[in-house]
Amino acid sequence: MPFTIAIDGPAASGKGTIARALAREFGFSHLDTGLLYRAVGAKGGDPVQAAQSLTPDDLRRHDLRSNEAGQAASRVAAIPEVRSALVEFQRSFALQEPGAVLDGRDIGTVICPEADLKLYVIASDEVRARRRAAEIGADPSETLIALRERDARDSERATAPLRPAEDAVVLDTSELSIGDAVRFAVGLVEIRRAG
Ligand code: CDP
Repeated sequence: MPFTIAIDGPAASGKGTIARALAREFGFSHLDTGLLYRAVGAKGGDPVQAAQSLTPDDLRRHDLRSNEAGQAASRVAAIPEVRSALVEFQRSFALQEPGAVLDGRDIGTVICPEADLKLYVIASDEVRARRRAAEIGADPSETLIALRERDARDSERATAPLRPAEDAVVLDTSELSIGDAVRFAVGLVEIRRAG
């Protein structure tokens, strides 16, 4: 059986960095599921059709990391038919040997409820805005507003809202270096794999 790691949390909390590091450390595949929703939002037209016809090329667009692409993603992500069109791809991705790391909003609650390890990564609003603004070269205060708006939309939607799974380990990265956050997560995987 492959080992599955589900990482969820609000925007720019450090999920992606931790997910990539875990995948590298354990030789697992990694899927940034946010990219799927960003690509659907960026495609324009009918979002349900866009989700049903998503191609690898759509995920390679260079404009997917911006605050605007994030807002468009969270709008299409609230549409139940968009989400259901993307479920099967994510679930089959999770079945890869020797393991897979998926990061997003509903991985531990909806996509992989049986994941071997569930992490819910958080950080203060200000820390998240500072990190994301530096990453994409945007203004920190505009980024703070965009992140808060997106978190509210993601948490309040009816289908697969952002929330920790009951058995998720909550990791607050506000005061942690990347190295410390990754070491903590690696330790958790080692414990679960040994058990
Ligand atoms: O990187 P960041 O945390 O800012 O966002 P992302 O993971 O790229 O996700 C962009 C948007 O896609 C989120 O704000 C959610 O609305 C949506 N999303 C989702 O609904 N479910 C997921 N599993 C992943 C992303």
